[in-house]
Amino acid sequence: MKKVQIYILSFLILVGLTDSVFLTYEHYVLTSIGCPVSTWINCLVVTTSKYSEIFGIPLALLGVIYYMFLGSFLYFGRSNKMFRHFYIITSSFGVLFSLYLIGIQMFAIKLFCLYCLLSAFVSFFNFGFTLIFFEKDFKTLVLDCFGYAYKYLLKPILFLFDAEAVHEWMVKFGENLPKPILILFKKIFGKYYKNLVQNIVGVNFKSPIGLAAGFDYEARLTKILPNLGFGFGTIGTLSYSSYEGNPKPMLGRLPNSKSLLVNKGFKNFGIHETLKKFNKSKFRYPVGISVGRTNSSELDTVDKTISDIVKGFKEAKKINLNNAYYELNISCPNLIHSLNIDFYDLKNLEKLLSEIDKLKIKKPIFVKMPIDQTEKHTLSMLKIIAKHKIVGVIFGNLQTNKKHRLLDKDEVKKFKMGKYSGKPTFEDSNIRIKLAYKNFKDRFVIVGTGGVFNADDAWVKFENGASLVQLITGMIYEGPQLIAQINRDLSQKLEEKGLKNISQVVGSAV
Ligand SMILES: Cc1cc2nc3c(=O)[nH]c(=O)nc-3n(C[C@H](O)[C@H](O)[C@H](O)COP(=O)(O)O)c2cc1C
Repeated sequence: MKKVQIYILSFLILVGLTDSVFLTYEHYVLTSIGCPVSTWINCLVVTTSKYSEIFGIPLALLGVIYYMFLGSFLYFGRSNKMFRHFYIITSSFGVLFSLYLIGIQMFAIKLFCLYCLLSAFVSFFNFGFTLIFFEKDFKTLVLDCFGYAYKYLLKPILFLFDAEAVHEWMVKFGENLPKPILILFKKIFGKYYKNLVQNIVGVNFKSPIGLAAGFDYEARLTKILPNLGFGFGTIGTLSYSSYEGNPKPMLGRLPNSKSLLVNKGFKNFGIHETLKKFNKSKFRYPVGISVGRTNSSELDTVDKTISDIVKGFKEAKKINLNNAYYELNISCPNLIHSLNIDFYDLKNLEKLLSEIDKLKIKKPIFVKMPIDQTEKHTLSMLKIIAKHKIVGVIFGNLQTNKKHRLLDKDEVKKFKMGKYSGKPTFEDSNIRIKLAYKNFKDRFVIVGTGGVFNADDAWVKFENGASLVQLITGMIYEGPQLIAQINRDLSQKLEEKGLKNISQVVGSAV
């Protein structure tokens, strides 16, 4: 805090304190010295009215205590964020209470006390200056309050309902927000920080935090997501033909495991149907189009499966998307009609990528990788991918090991089908990010996905070699303000460490 700011606030506190001491004196001594009396002013009537006490304690005395608290919070707040937060909360409370007291004088007593009005003005000025001087702390506090409200009020209610229904409500809500609310969201959550901006493979990422594939299957959230602070977001996974989804439940919650059960199997309307509304339009932030095979048993050979994926890419290419990149998803563990055809088989992988090369796609293509293959096999896959027109890899997809130590056994038992997101994916994703960075840091851009619930989690992924980070589950458990909180905390951490840009953290622990 600057000295001049401390002087201004101290002066206001001193004026308020003196005023409150004087009003307390008037209350007890029953005098109205120095207060003119007219048809609308009478201090004595106001300070001795039935409204002048709460539980027998004079409001004026509470005023004295209020200013003494403010003074102490200001003193300690010079070097301590928590006390600055106390200062902001107390000042906000003071301004609300002052409004209430003005209302009482105006409408109930119908008389004003000049010294009470002075105290109210001091409260207003103090609050105004607080907003200006503690702007950063105020925004932090607002975000954290949103987080607490989501975690302790909204989430317990939402979690009473079916997970898929809630997902649909949330998407509908996000899609239909009126413009003024979108602007308000942008003001509160959409702040971007210079030290988080990166230009990667010719794409400008204002924040390194993106939405992973699987939340916005129908491309309905491209307007709201940047306003929440996301630097990029994925649509899909989409396939050439539509798929109605696996047998229900397609989504479930495992709160003790900090995980979600996912069993969608690429439920989507098909690439053309989903993306046609974007023909030639430019996204406000980089959008990843996740492309996978159609989940159909008609694709009963490798060649048919490859041809289906290629048709999907051709379809996406036809729709002239601006500010977009592709994610080739070869790692979905929920494709119940895949007939065990996969691209972990190195020959199949080679064939698929060769066919995609032939399309001469100019936009960057990333491959969404599994986290359940051995390190040796993952390296073999990476070696093949490196020979093709692929700019990066995303580590990774869902946790397939039901016996993972972070999965609560009783929660796992509740679901027959599906695989797991969230915390149980964190470590396996990090190990493979590190592996890829160690061996292919000059070849691939690495995107870290899995179990990011806060800025420290994201930081670990950057340190291991990720240039960008994606998430879904963290947002479901912590709230939509999480992205703004992560951006804020990452930026602050960079400043504290004397680093200029998040790219300097990438691979620093390898
Ligand atoms: C509801 C849900 C649906 C998902 N669907 C897809 C998908 O269609 N394609 C894909 O590549 N990954 C999908 N995933 C995996 C995520 O993209 C991500 O890799 C994984 O959830 C780990 O990140 P998280 O812990 O932040 O959720 C899905 C995840 C969830 C939670």
